[in-house]
Amino acid sequence: MHLTSEEEKILDGELGWAYQVSMRILTRLGELFEAKRLIPIDSAHISGVSYKTIGNAAIDFLQSMVKGGGKVKVASTTNPSVFDSYRREETALPRDVLEKQMRIINLYRDMEVSPTLTCTPYYLSRPTGGSHLAWSESSAVVYANSILRAWTNREGGPGALAAAMIGKVPDYGLHQPENRRPDVLVEVEPKLNKEIEFGAMGICLGKILGDRVPVFSGLDDCAETNLKQLGAALASSGMTSIFHRSLKMETKGFEKVTVEEKDLKNAIEDLSTTSDRPDLVFVGCPHCSLTEIRQISRTLEGKKVKKDAKLWVCTSRHMKSKARKYVDKIESAGGKVLCDTCVVVTWVDKLGVDALMTNSAKTAYYAPTFNRVQTVFKTLEECVAAACEH
Ligand code: F3S
Repeated sequence: MHLTSEEEKILDGELGWAYQVSMRILTRLGELFEAKRLIPIDSAHISGVSYKTIGNAAIDFLQSMVKGGGKVKVASTTNPSVFDSYRREETALPRDVLEKQMRIINLYRDMEVSPTLTCTPYYLSRPTGGSHLAWSESSAVVYANSILRAWTNREGGPGALAAAMIGKVPDYGLHQPENRRPDVLVEVEPKLNKEIEFGAMGICLGKILGDRVPVFSGLDDCAETNLKQLGAALASSGMTSIFHRSLKMETKGFEKVTVEEKDLKNAIEDLSTTSDRPDLVFVGCPHCSLTEIRQISRTLEGKKVKKDAKLWVCTSRHMKSKARKYVDKIESAGGKVLCDTCVVVTWVDKLGVDALMTNSAKTAYYAPTFNRVQTVFKTLEECVAAACEH
């Protein structure tokens, strides 16, 4: 890979250890994927934040980056953590876990990474179409590439941090137009309406698409929130980082995959592992938009969350402050609007949860393994009904 003289100097350690190690990570990645050069990025989104997912070794690495003088060069945001720091007194997690989590957040802060603690950085600042990014949250990567038409690979946490430090990424994969073109046509026969249908279809297709780029027919007028569910699910069960929707594209000669009514029905059923009464009802994976928070508050109108039930709505701190009046309605009905975290990146099993109900296919897909809980996969309306008194 060709490096400019300035990049060579960074690799030789002229700017210190943090930049040298970042440049090493980027050049190693570039060589592996046969990139010819580094290209500038507009922003980075870093996924290695939850103490549950990164553990102690990562803390040592972040500490060394801070000691090595590392500060990011582009706008950089972080994924969720294990708890809502503004509700610290409400969490049942042990003190040492909370302290370690705060240590991680503060180390990122020392590197001037903004502690946004959300998987939906695009609701904070929407990247422009055609801009190059280094994002490492898989659901956000699909959203950026497919809906916003920005250009990013699915980075790992260290790769995104390295890119943030240097302000560049190796030019390969989805940074190149030829790799963004679709090569498989997905025909969706049933008319999809509900968010769980989009999510379930994503889980089902993710398993068969591999790293191919799908173009969907039959999905032309869909709400962005439903496409968010589709993308998050595709990236959970598979490697999809971009999809297309326009049938104006030439699809002659493409392999064809058809989604039938029965495929959808089976995929929805498979995402429930129990029919037990849930201990926790969770919506907000990926983190809720303003529209979704408003929809939840409307669905809760005239209802009350049962005394022995829990309804969690997860979103970003930014979105929570924008949606204040809807948040107040949700909380006065007995729900909890949490920021900075989600069910998957924390230890819900340690909070006494055995069965979890959600409208997110990504959560329903991951939770039985990552969180060792049973899942019930239902629409938002069914989730709210299950949490409320009748
Ligand atoms: Fe976000 Fe957690 Fe889902 S990080 S995408 S809410 S698993």
